[in-house]
Amino acid sequence: MKMAVGRNGAEKDDAAGHIRCMMSRRMFLMTSGVAALSVSTISLSLFPGGTVQAEVVEYPRKRIARLSQLKNDVPVDFNYPDDAPGSSAMLVKMGGIRAGGGIGPQEDVVAFSYLCTHQGGALDGLYKVVGDHRVLGQCPMHLSTFDLTRHGIVVSGQAYESLPQILLELDGDDIHAVGIMGLLYGRNRNVMQSG
Ligand code: FES
Repeated sequence: MKMAVGRNGAEKDDAAGHIRCMMSRRMFLMTSGVAALSVSTISLSLFPGGTVQAEVVEYPRKRIARLSQLKNDVPVDFNYPDDAPGSSAMLVKMGGIRAGGGIGPQEDVVAFSYLCTHQGGALDGLYKVVGDHRVLGQCPMHLSTFDLTRHGIVVSGQAYESLPQILLELDGDDIHAVGIMGLLYGRNRNVMQSG
């Protein structure tokens, strides 16, 4: 699909138009719900001097667990958005502790990448419960720890970027991964295309 956005229309040459465009793309990425990857190319003319081609890749919608089968504070491992390196992730129901982006009746079910954003240290097996705190870490390489109740922000250590959060949707009892907030470590784009 090609969608041309003209340079001289009122919508895209001003800042408001830019913001609307970026919001549209963001919403597109966050709400995409297709079974297979598809790619669209759009032409953007947001600034003087010509157009740029931007590739918009939809995230796959992947069922990863059933809500009724989750046990409090017991992570479930999965891969997303593909099975290529860097896709390892964890889903966890945090015992009734409400979280940013959390789903379920208690908004306590979240999912995050297992790769530290600093230099890719493996965070597998490092989910911790400390009172009402729910964290992933410390990273074995340089001790970074991430707060899973607050979109994976760094709470200590060498990392300076939040842990990528897997966006979730609940459909009946089924939990689906539908997108990622943040860039997976080691990639220049989250969605790898085959072929
Ligand atoms: S790789 Fe995790 S803190 Fe450096």
